Amino acid sequence: MANPPSSRPGRFGERTRLVQAGRDPSAQHGFVNTPIYRGSTVLYPTADDLLHRRGRYVYGTAGTPTTEALERAWTELTGAAGTVLTPSGLAAVSLALLSCLKSGDHLLMTDSAYRPTRVFCDTVLRRFGVETTYYDPLVGAEVAALMRPNTAAVFTESPGSQSFEMQDVPAIAAAAHARGAVVLMDNTWATPLFFSPHERGVDLAVEAGTKYLSGGSDLLLGLVSANERCWRRLRATFDAMAVCAGPEDVFLALRGLRSLSLRLKEHERQALELARWLTQRPEVDRVLHPGLAGDPGHAVWRRDFKGSTGLFSAILKPASSEAVAAMLDGLELFGMGFSWGGFESLVIPFDCATYRSATTWKPGGPALRFHIGFEDVDDLKADLDAGFARLREKAGA
Ligand SMILES: Cc1ncc(COP(=O)(O)O)c(C=O)c1O
Repeated sequence: MANPPSSRPGRFGERTRLVQAGRDPSAQHGFVNTPIYRGSTVLYPTADDLLHRRGRYVYGTAGTPTTEALERAWTELTGAAGTVLTPSGLAAVSLALLSCLKSGDHLLMTDSAYRPTRVFCDTVLRRFGVETTYYDPLVGAEVAALMRPNTAAVFTESPGSQSFEMQDVPAIAAAAHARGAVVLMDNTWATPLFFSPHERGVDLAVEAGTKYLSGGSDLLLGLVSANERCWRRLRATFDAMAVCAGPEDVFLALRGLRSLSLRLKEHERQALELARWLTQRPEVDRVLHPGLAGDPGHAVWRRDFKGSTGLFSAILKPASSEAVAAMLDGLELFGMGFSWGGFESLVIPFDCATYRSATTWKPGGPALRFHIGFEDVDDLKADLDAGFARLREKAGA
């Protein structure tokens, strides 16, 4: 099914577009939002209409007014040729890769990629005859030297969602395009509001809607937007697999979309305050946050991004795992769990050394990843302050 761009004119600012995009109250009896359409079967008035698939909607997996509303809105926001929705962010990653690779192809994958993305490459893609080479995320234009005659795609993720390397996506895209390869990006951290993937050379952009589009840790969703070059293949691959998103999740994501700009700015403000506070802590060796002036990725971030979000990491000074556990286990406000992008603050310990293959991860101390939500920032500092006291106490014991 076609995914035409929204009929809304492009003259509005971003916040106006977030409010307007994908909505058509006149098609919903005047109600502001498109409701949840649940359904498999779509009825046709005549046998001839059915035989020729004549009708706006043909079958539940191919699209409903609810899914179409979000597809249109995302297409408009990203400036893409079209968007498909998948049941999770990881499904969006795998669908995007399957849409541009075939047996015998070579894939270049950033070493900083979300770990399950690597698992997909090392299992399913390998089984179907696609070879993956991991590359240093900081490679920039030098990616050209890694390309082979059969390199069909280069996958980027910037920043890496644990280690926060900033990639020079425009330079990588230019080198890849010069050799005919497709460029993909996992843009979940920045969202299209803070990084415009298609304007910077990305052909297929993935967003785990599970994170900021939800904002509530209450849904699972993926979105893939494609430019003209890749849109037909993406849509055809999606149709062939019917890897479609659940209607309630899409409805909730549309609700989240309306406040996305406000929420991201607040995540940015809170996270920067916490990150700066952490840089002053004696227990912290360094903070990995591209929005901080001293971060190695700051110049690229300033050049290409319009903002930073709520996720960053910190490397502690050397401490035992028992001391770190004492710090984390007693936290009152920071939850410990995977995923991020919701209203609540989270922290996880992580170690990239176990799975990196093109680069070495030797941070020199325990690594913690924070997601900063909407709690009072002083309460968050007090929670961490008490945690650091437990860490020191255990270290001294
Ligand atoms: C950077 C990144 N991409 C993709 C995903 C996958 O999203 P989902 O959990 O919806 O499969 C995640 C999930 O944590 C992620 O952090």
